[in-house]
Amino acid sequence: VPIGGAKNATLPILVATLVAPGEHRLARVPDLADVGSMLSLLGRIGCPSLGHAGLVSVDTTRVIYNEAPYDLVRKMRASVLALGPLLARCGEAHVSLPGGCAIGVRPIDQHLKGLEALGCQFELSGGYVHGKVEKLTGGRVRFDMPTVTGTENVLMAAVLAQGESVFENAAREPEIVDLVRFLRSLGAIIEGEGSSTLHVQGVASLTPAKAPYAILPDRVEAGTYLVAGAITGGDITIQGVNPGDLSAVLDALLSAGCTIDVGDDTVRVRREGPVRTVNVTTEPHPGFPTDMQAQLMALLCLAQGESEIRETIFENRFMHVPELQRLGANIDVFGNLARTKGVRQLTGATVMATDLRASASLVLAGLAARGRTEVLRLYHLDRGYERLVEKLQAVGAQVARVGDDPRERAGQPGAAA
Ligand code: EPU
Repeated sequence: VPIGGAKNATLPILVATLVAPGEHRLARVPDLADVGSMLSLLGRIGCPSLGHAGLVSVDTTRVIYNEAPYDLVRKMRASVLALGPLLARCGEAHVSLPGGCAIGVRPIDQHLKGLEALGCQFELSGGYVHGKVEKLTGGRVRFDMPTVTGTENVLMAAVLAQGESVFENAAREPEIVDLVRFLRSLGAIIEGEGSSTLHVQGVASLTPAKAPYAILPDRVEAGTYLVAGAITGGDITIQGVNPGDLSAVLDALLSAGCTIDVGDDTVRVRREGPVRTVNVTTEPHPGFPTDMQAQLMALLCLAQGESEIRETIFENRFMHVPELQRLGANIDVFGNLARTKGVRQLTGATVMATDLRASASLVLAGLAARGRTEVLRLYHLDRGYERLVEKLQAVGAQVARVGDDPRERAGQPGAAA
């Protein structure tokens, strides 16, 4: 299964183009609804783009509008990533507050606190954050918790601040590392990516790179296909990945009884014996990723015995549990702990996707269930999985997209990722 560019690296990198006026080219951009939403946001700001997948170019020569409006932010929370770059570029930005979402409250206080440390001032009114800064100045930022988009937002401003900034307790996800590499290709001076301390030496201006920047492979897409191999007792090789980014997921799959072979940019998973129980706790990188929790749970529904999954990142990320129960899974939830008692067989049913990764877990469970499973609200999947049906079909899955119900899309609730 070929793995595409990472959604959660593409989104910050697309908006980071704002800090270097001119024409940017990005390669391995995945064909996802969220990428389309980010390109629409850039278009609204005054930055046209060509292409929406593969090779994409964005022209940030002019910014004519420094706002991320509600209609775009409610569709995709990651639109709040426009705050840091717009403040750095325009000295003023108006970004709609994203509000809560299907997986939790998800405040942005850390984004604001970090930007305040660089001299920005904020006012909240009318559902918007209104930010202003006369002169961005380097500062010391200590995040209360490692936040992925929070770290990214503040970083995209710090690269153009006068003087040095130091981030402590920064997020360490591979997507942050990719953003740092992209910013460096524009001339930014940053050290420490992949660790929890980042040093940024602000520069007066940044310039688009000549060569296209290739987005890193999607470790969550990769992990999802590995679980597809594991849950069906199959044999799947994913291609074009950074195996090092998948360590926690590979450890969990090994514990679950899979055989794993790691190549330079491939991982092969096979499962011949029974699924074994695993206990996992979601943690910031390099711990087990919350974005793989629902998919692993689908697998553990078939384990020989009892597994425990503790979700520590988001307070409401077990929305897939009642849907998995509809397929016959035996799961009890106690606060942030889900205890699954493996069953011999899941049985097909109609289930409802509630957020992106929850939808993926339902598709995975459906692959292993006896009979037909119907997953509704496919628009969640389209936000983060490129050609999911085709990729699964190519490795032998009996899966088809049987239609889009426009009424479902009209009722689309707040976007999670
Ligand atoms: N938090 C705060 N205040 C803040 C920021 C975060 O309290 O100002 C809390 C959150 O509520 C959460 C924790 O900190 O409890 C960590 O959240 P984080 O900020 O790291 O999440 P995020 O940046 O909003 C990104 C991904 C998510 C992924 C999480 C965790 C993007 C666009 N989204 O969200 O991806 O689950 O990091 O790794 O990068 C997905 O792709 O399906 C998805 C939800």
